[in-house]
Amino acid sequence: MRRERRSVVAVDWVGPYALVRVTRGSLDRGIPGQFFMLEAPGRVLPRPMSLCLAPRGELAFLIDPIGPGTRALAELERGDELAILGPLGNGFRLDVAKPLLVGGGIGIAPLPYLSEALERPPAVLGFRSEHHAEAAALLPHAEVVIDPVLVTDALPVGRDVLACGPEPMLEAVRALAPDAQLAWEAPMACGYGACYGCVVEIDGRLERLCVEGPVLCSS
Ligand SMILES: Cc1cc2nc3c(=O)[nH]c(=O)nc-3n(C[C@H](O)[C@H](O)[C@H](O)COP(=O)(O)OP(=O)(O)OC[C@H]3O[C@@H](n4cnc5c(N)ncnc54)[C@H](O)[C@@H]3O)c2cc1C
Ligand code: FES
Repeated sequence: MRRERRSVVAVDWVGPYALVRVTRGSLDRGIPGQFFMLEAPGRVLPRPMSLCLAPRGELAFLIDPIGPGTRALAELERGDELAILGPLGNGFRLDVAKPLLVGGGIGIAPLPYLSEALERPPAVLGFRSEHHAEAAALLPHAEVVIDPVLVTDALPVGRDVLACGPEPMLEAVRALAPDAQLAWEAPMACGYGACYGCVVEIDGRLERLCVEGPVLCSS
C-alpha cells in the first residue's frame, strides 16, 4: 500500500459514468476487487473506488457521480493532480474453475480488470437504462439485461460466481449461488482499518469491511 499524488491522463465518459485515468507511478495495481482511496479536490475525506482497468502505466477508475465527492472526481481534467492510497482490502480469489462475472450498475467497476485476470470469462451485467448499459462496452461479450429484467433472471447454474453491485442484487445472487464471492460496500473514511466507519456484521461478528472485505465469500 502506498500513497502518491498522481496526475489525470484523461476522463472518458461511458454512458453516465466517468472513467478517470491517472498515471500509475509506483502504485501497485493490486488484485481485482481491491480498492483505492481517491482524494477528491475540495473534499476532506477520500472516496473508495475499485480499480476498473490497469492499462500500461495507468490506473483507471469508473465513477458514478452521485454526490459531491464523486462529482468532484468526475470533473477532474487532464493534468489535474490527486492523492491516491492503495491498493486496499481483500480482492477476489482467482482460483475458480468456471468463473461467471455478475455486475449491476456501477458495480461493474471492478469487473473489466477481473475479466482480464481470469482471461475473459462469461459475464452478466444489469443496468437500469440503455444509457447506463453503455458501460457494458468495458466488458465485451457480456450478456446485458436492462430493468425490469434482472441479472438473476439470466444467471446460468453451475458457475463460480464473482459479483459486485447494489446490496439487493448481491442478496439475490447469494440466494441462487451460495458460494458466490461478493464485493460489498459501506461508507469508508480511512480505508485501512483505523476509523471503524465501515463496520458491518459478518457471520454474527462486527468487522471492518475495508479490512475483511470488500470481497466476501457468501457461504
Ligand atoms: C470498496 C468500495 C469500492 C467502491 N468502488 C466504487 C467505484 O468503483 N465507483 C463508484 O462510482 N463508486 C464506488 N464506490 C462507492 C463510492 O465510494 C461512493 O459512491 C462515494 O464515496 C460517494 O461519495 P460522494 O461524496 O459522491 O457522495 P455522498 O454524499 O458521500 O453519498 C451520496 C449517497 O450515497 C450513499 N453512500 C455513500 N457512500 C456509500 C457506500 N460506500 N455504500 C453505500 N452508500 C453510500 C450516501 O449515504 C448518500 O446517500 C465504492 C465503495 C466502496 C466501499
Ligand atoms: S474505512 Fe476506516 S476502518 Fe474501514
